[in-house]
Amino acid sequence: MTRNILVTSALPYANGSIHIGHLVEYIQTDIWVRFQKMRGHTCSYVCADDTHGTAIMLRAEKEGITPQQLIDKTHGEHYRDFQGFHIAFDNYYSTNSDENRELSQEIYRKLRAKGLIEIRSIEQLYDPDKQLFLADRFIKGECPKCHAQDQYGDACEACGTTYAPTDLIKPYSTVSGATPVKKTTEQYFFKLGECADFLKQWTRAGHLQHEAANKMAEWLDSGLQSWDISRNAPYFGFEIPDAPGKYFYVWLDAPIGYMASFKNLCAQTGLDFDSYWKEGASPELYHFIGKDILSFHALFWPAVLAFSGHRTPTKIFAHGFLTVGGQKMSKSRGTFITAESYLQQGLNPEWLRYYFAAKLNSTMEDIDLNLDDFVARVNSDLVGKYVNIASRAAGFISKRFDGELGMTDPAAADLEHEFSSASTTIAENYDAREYGKALREIMRLTDLANQYVDTNKPWELAKDSANNDHLHRVCTTALTLFRDLTLYLSPVLPRIAEQVEAFLNIPPLQWTGVFKPLPSGHRINAYQHLMTRVEPKQIDALLAANKESLAPTEHSPARHAEAQVHHAIPTDAKQTMPESPLIAIDDFSKIDLRIAKITNAEHVEGAEKLLKLTLDIGEEKPRTVFAGIKSAYDPSTLVGRLTVMVANLAPRKMKFGLSEGMVLAASGEGPGLFILSPDSGAQPGMRVK
Ligand code: MSP
Ligand code: ZN
Repeated sequence: MTRNILVTSALPYANGSIHIGHLVEYIQTDIWVRFQKMRGHTCSYVCADDTHGTAIMLRAEKEGITPQQLIDKTHGEHYRDFQGFHIAFDNYYSTNSDENRELSQEIYRKLRAKGLIEIRSIEQLYDPDKQLFLADRFIKGECPKCHAQDQYGDACEACGTTYAPTDLIKPYSTVSGATPVKKTTEQYFFKLGECADFLKQWTRAGHLQHEAANKMAEWLDSGLQSWDISRNAPYFGFEIPDAPGKYFYVWLDAPIGYMASFKNLCAQTGLDFDSYWKEGASPELYHFIGKDILSFHALFWPAVLAFSGHRTPTKIFAHGFLTVGGQKMSKSRGTFITAESYLQQGLNPEWLRYYFAAKLNSTMEDIDLNLDDFVARVNSDLVGKYVNIASRAAGFISKRFDGELGMTDPAAADLEHEFSSASTTIAENYDAREYGKALREIMRLTDLANQYVDTNKPWELAKDSANNDHLHRVCTTALTLFRDLTLYLSPVLPRIAEQVEAFLNIPPLQWTGVFKPLPSGHRINAYQHLMTRVEPKQIDALLAANKESLAPTEHSPARHAEAQVHHAIPTDAKQTMPESPLIAIDDFSKIDLRIAKITNAEHVEGAEKLLKLTLDIGEEKPRTVFAGIKSAYDPSTLVGRLTVMVANLAPRKMKFGLSEGMVLAASGEGPGLFILSPDSGAQPGMRVK
């Protein structure tokens, strides 16, 4: 039975580049879609850029272009990156489209007609300089609970307390630095609370993974608030009908962007939009998403759809987050790897597709990219095992049999049968998003194929022409097995599959019907090497290409938002220095060393080793640094002295407050600790080079 299926991946924000974390999702989805298509189902895969919101508006302003120019530019880059990783969308659209505007307005009108929209006056923080209402993430200030500085408007990263931005002490706008003022404003709310009964039932009706359903139950049990779906001008988005100056909040029109992209595809292909989206529609609808956006897809979205007369998703497939080497991706470690840099460094996209697939399953667990494991696994499984089968058999067929296949080996009948009957298990695993299991089974078969070649030793048979028939059969069998493995791997390795089809001179592989051996007399083409090994030095180059100095640069988009967050690590006098490796001048120049004047020094209550220093480095705001020099200095003797500090050390929050740099001190084997001083004449703020 052929199925009609519509599949989406989350719409990436149009103000950032695609990175390998994103790619987990698009690769996961693409494998699934390719698999369904190979099974003969009608499957459409749509996506789009998520283009609206304050962040995009501000980003465009900073770059001196219009939001439209920004989103056009990004659309091209995103599309290029996805193509580079062989993500085969049927349509890659934009949420800033006519289809999306019309659908969003229509859905809003339906919700309003159902009495599900209410207008309420609320107090919000407003940036008087920028004349902009501020979303929580554009406000920072002191935590009302633990008094940590520079905390975002929704939650404190130091103590974990959540609060309203109006609770922050000494709040400031990260856009302009101005102190926000409270302003009353009318906003439009979707009465999600009235959908609670529907959602309680829907979230338990098999549309969600178990752990996702449990998560949503926690939300539902704590009661659903009305959802603010409007934003005040200036905002880059769609105006709300009959509400001048009010725009749809980006998260209202973003999921509708799935529908809009599909509608645009329908116009190109003749698919019928309504038969997919009307209430009770029979085609299947699947959304692949990351676990961070689960509530939008498992609560808001089904409620919006159901109460506006549409069908709801068949299933939401949430995946976990990517870590690299067990840690969050990091710009300073070079593990925040962009899709573009990966391709530019000449790494093969199918290596990453294979590695992610091998790690993926149907749960929301995080997945880890361990770079040593990446090199080892790709080289061993793909190059050492899979590709090896073809390269060992193909040469004899070309040289000895003029490129013509013979009969397969009767002694390998059981093996061929085992290969074809594995189809069911492998297919079930792909369908259930258990890619790791599918690949383990495929690699088990690959091992069997290699054993077959090893046992029959074609290179030995080739030494005596009396063995010609046997040699012909063994190589033909090996290539037939290789064809089957290629079929099984092709959702993951689509480009390799194409190359193999060209090499074996066969039509595109389809996962239907019975597996017949390649016919005797069939002529194949000359074998060309299918895949090279990953070299560890390519990984080093990739990390180096993504390593970003922490020194704020003129172009860094994070500069405004993050400008106040420069903390640091206290100098630890006891630390013994390891033998230092040689570094290049570029490494050294990443360190922003500055002359600092100690304008204040004091003891820190409860700290055994630390002094709290206030340092003037010629910037508007003095730096606070906690330095482990208490054993060596009486704070009063330090005030007024010049010393040297590292001004671009990574942020560090300490128990006692924020540390915004590091001072340098010398120490030897014995006691004694000596902070550095410049020669006379040096001024605070001078760079040390
Ligand atoms: N624009 C929203 C989605 C709107 S969908 C109607 C968004 N965009 S995003 O660019 O931040 O993320 C796009 C997808 O990539 C999300 O599903 C997100 O979970 C996923 N990932 C982003 N970083 C990721 C990792 N580090 N690891 C795995 N997936 C990650 O959210
Ligand atoms: Zn706190």
